[in-house]
Amino acid sequence: MKVTKQRSESLFSTLRIFCLGLSLLGGLSVSQAQNLGQQQPQPRPQVQPPPQNALAPAASQPNFTRLENLGSQIFRDPALSEPRGTSCNNCHSAGSGFASNNGSRIGVAQGSTPQSIGGRNAMSNAYTSFIPKFQFRVTGEDVDPVGGFFWDGRADTAELQALGPFLNSLEMNNKDAASVVRKIAASPYAQMFKDEFGSQVFSNPTLAFQKIGVAIAAFERTSSLQPFNSKYDQFIQGKVKFNPQEANGMKMFMDVNKGNCASCHLMNPNSSKPSDSLFTDFAFYATGIPRNMAIPRNANPSFFDLGLCGPDRSKPALTNNVPANISIEKFCGTFRMASLRNTAERKAWMHNGFFKDLRDVVSFYATRNSDPKRWYGPKGIANDLPIAYVGNIINDRVPFNRPASAGPALTEREIDDVVAFLKTLSDAPTQPPGPTPPPLVGVRNNPFVN
Ligand code: HEC
Ligand code: HEC
Repeated sequence: MKVTKQRSESLFSTLRIFCLGLSLLGGLSVSQAQNLGQQQPQPRPQVQPPPQNALAPAASQPNFTRLENLGSQIFRDPALSEPRGTSCNNCHSAGSGFASNNGSRIGVAQGSTPQSIGGRNAMSNAYTSFIPKFQFRVTGEDVDPVGGFFWDGRADTAELQALGPFLNSLEMNNKDAASVVRKIAASPYAQMFKDEFGSQVFSNPTLAFQKIGVAIAAFERTSSLQPFNSKYDQFIQGKVKFNPQEANGMKMFMDVNKGNCASCHLMNPNSSKPSDSLFTDFAFYATGIPRNMAIPRNANPSFFDLGLCGPDRSKPALTNNVPANISIEKFCGTFRMASLRNTAERKAWMHNGFFKDLRDVVSFYATRNSDPKRWYGPKGIANDLPIAYVGNIINDRVPFNRPASAGPALTEREIDDVVAFLKTLSDAPTQPPGPTPPPLVGVRNNPFVN
């Protein structure tokens, strides 16, 4: 009885948090939005000529729908930040595994001003169409949080996720939704936006802001962001062979007594269907990543990024399927597993960007237990979680279940081989965007618009 009551209260608080999230993302109250809607006619802002170093607008892709093209234009538009110059693409460019941190080399993203340094490493926005909604997955004795966008799973859909960066002061730094909408209304693709969402769309900034998310999400679902054309994909389709080093790397990656990587980063080389190998099951784990001292908020020794337990989100409420003896505290310090597709192209790895070299990532997995001082300093105790949560770090699964005396899980050579295998997960380079072609005629209609 008591449990049921607690659970329904938690469900209520989930809903509350969700609604709060929505209104924060929207950035506008209904009355504010109505007020803005009444300022008619809206003066049409002047279009500024782009600065010399601005990125070229995206080429319209002939195989995209109008909605997808719109999303692509918005994604690459450097005019949508404050000050201008930082587009989504600055932190998610194809050449850096879709996670480029806007040129920052300290492992976390730099925003639209040199002073705005964020708290986390950019994630790849490729292959995100497979991310399930946030949930607690219960299999036998195992309870794992799974899914949701961001390292902490705080956004349920790509549509909602896409609205976050515009208003984040450490990213694109817009004051509110209405100012983003004004910039879109002054953009070269404003007409396309109206054609897609209705000629009056800009007079309702709340609605227009939501539609920005709809367009970006449609673009992110296109095959341009899930091309599945890596060497690995060709390999499972029998089109190419791996060299001996790559083949051994895959073996070590899958071997349940060696890397055991595939137990989490799911793959199925016996299926010729690339989407059966996403290299993640979207579950959350605390893996004991060392603290990145270069992150500004880490200058405070009592600050800890607890992932699922905040501070960038509120703790999620446990759902009815979770056994009553499990508390949310058990998941503090967990982060959502990333896909390893294109991981070799990145400049920094893990939620806090601690690693700057992919080989170090694999060495960490191989030696976290055998040589903890190498990663955590003289005490040899995980240093990026409060002591109360160090017990949440996964230690009951290969390669994390070894006593120090058992030595590294992988030899130096096997580490090199795993790295060679990870490099086969990089997609073929994409075409650089060309100049904007004339407005589109005769593209497929958007199924979302009535
Ligand atoms: C200043 C750098 C920066 C900019 C600009 C930026 N992002 Fe991100 N992006 C990040 C960081 C950092 C994260 C991880 C944040 C977190 O987990 O709290 C992220 C996460 C994401 C994710 C989540 C991927 C996943 O697997 O859950 C998507 C999708 C994404 N961004 C898309 C976008 C879009 C769309 C835009 C433009 C509207 C954008 N980003 C602008 C840095 C940036
Ligand atoms: C217990 C599950 C688990 C196992 C086993 C595991 N990983 Fe991971 N992996 C994760 C999680 C969770 C993250 C994200 C952790 C974070 O950032 O806090 C991650 C992140 C990564 C990343 C960084 C991705 C990025 O975009 O920053 C790489 C690379 C990686 N793993 C490779 C491997 C390799 C190689 C192995 C085997 C030696 C392995 N993993 C074994 C769960 C696992």
